[in-house]
Amino acid sequence: MGGLENFLDPLAVQDDTLCQLAVDLSKTYRNLALTSTDQFLATPVNVLPHGRERGKFLAIDVGGSNLRVAFIDLLGDSRDHLHNISRSYEKSWSIEEHLKFDQAHDLFRWIGDCIAAVIRACLSDDKDALGSEIPIGITFSFPMLQRSITEATLMPMGKGFAISKDANLAELLLAGYAHTTAANGHDSNPPLPKLKITAITNDTVATLASLSYSAGIKPNTRVVMGLIVGTGTNATIPMELRHLHESKRSGIKMPAPSESDEASTIVNTEWTIKGTAGPLHDLGIVTRWDVALDAACEAPGFQPFEYMTSGRYLGELVRLIVVDWFVNVERTKPDDLPPALNQRNSISTVWLSRVVAKTPSPDKLVSVLQQDLQPPATSSWSWTHEHAYVLKKTTETVSLRSSKLIAAATVGLMGCVARKTLSGLPPEETEDLVVACTGGLFLQYPGFFRTCQDCIDDLVGELNIKQGVRRVKLQEAPDGGIIGAGVLAGTVWNLPNDVAMQS
Ligand code: BGC
Repeated sequence: MGGLENFLDPLAVQDDTLCQLAVDLSKTYRNLALTSTDQFLATPVNVLPHGRERGKFLAIDVGGSNLRVAFIDLLGDSRDHLHNISRSYEKSWSIEEHLKFDQAHDLFRWIGDCIAAVIRACLSDDKDALGSEIPIGITFSFPMLQRSITEATLMPMGKGFAISKDANLAELLLAGYAHTTAANGHDSNPPLPKLKITAITNDTVATLASLSYSAGIKPNTRVVMGLIVGTGTNATIPMELRHLHESKRSGIKMPAPSESDEASTIVNTEWTIKGTAGPLHDLGIVTRWDVALDAACEAPGFQPFEYMTSGRYLGELVRLIVVDWFVNVERTKPDDLPPALNQRNSISTVWLSRVVAKTPSPDKLVSVLQQDLQPPATSSWSWTHEHAYVLKKTTETVSLRSSKLIAAATVGLMGCVARKTLSGLPPEETEDLVVACTGGLFLQYPGFFRTCQDCIDDLVGELNIKQGVRRVKLQEAPDGGIIGAGVLAGTVWNLPNDVAMQS
């Protein structure tokens, strides 16, 4: 099988290339923060929870594949970090393709119906459980322009939604819910409460907020970054406002007054968008399969780093590579292959994770593949040990490359931020910098989390990125999007009354 290893060689990223990638990405990020208007976006979040906030909040998480709605109760016991949040009446719906293609108003009317269903479930158990108005936190897994924590304007996005850019997300959500209450709210007893939008944020910022709340304050350990590798990927980190392009910081209203002269904010990096592609090309990491995937997808050139790393694309990348091998190396006629292999986007990353990556040997895989990916009845081609090995090895190589690239990007991002912004610790002390992470690849893909952490350890050792850093440590923040929506609403809600929105 030496031939297959050589064939897959373009996907192998050597250690020295990975180190160089982290260094080059660090410079690129600094530059994008200063110059780009669609990446390194200032979010109006300059305060993170301390774990003592209390209250009941409705949380809504609009993801790329699912909508989730739940009540989040912040119990405020900072000593019992495992039990300081309770979730109730949680429901999840998959966002059907037709809803993604619908007009924004139709999509948000459906969202309004889903919100009302969760509120009704709560009121049917206790009609006095909620007042006339409920504070809500919302996370969106899209890039947004935000000038204050309660409003957001959609920016160009991937993930297959047709909502046009510049849509006002807060208005759409309230209008969608108002439509539901007008349609059947008069019959409700008690009437459905009003929604008070208290915090809107990107899902990665929410993930950071969620772990900040539940991890509490530990000596020499700080949660400094949010990271998602799921359907899409993205990261968030605090940066000083003066390191961002003027247009991104002017007119921004922060929820809390700044405690230092060097005001900082949580930055939504949108690190997959095209500005980050330079180092990937310069270091020869982009393969002909990446180029083919990019050219055929719905937004060519828009999110090149996402196309190489995230769950929405890894299945398709594996499909392109194995078909290239079977057709161009083994000389199989395309029509003799299982029809699914000839169909764009027919292999999902979830299937690779649950079936291919979890089945220990190609032999065991053969019988599953015969069921899941049947060749045409007329074909003499079949799943043999060798063919199953091609699929398994390709899957391993593609996911390994994704975890390594995410590790280099993580270390690069840490490296581009001044240490005092991350921690404020005196230089002689060392600490663990914690990355709050969530998403299907981190939480479910076999070995992804471990490999990514190992690579980060190697890179931090190799590059000596910062004096005083003991470790850059990944920590799971399951359901960071929905929990963080509630946590961030609670953080803003619990700010002292005399703290006005700051410009
Ligand atoms: C989006 C980000 C989002 C990430 C993770 C990307 O496709 O551009 O805004 O945070 O996916 O959901």
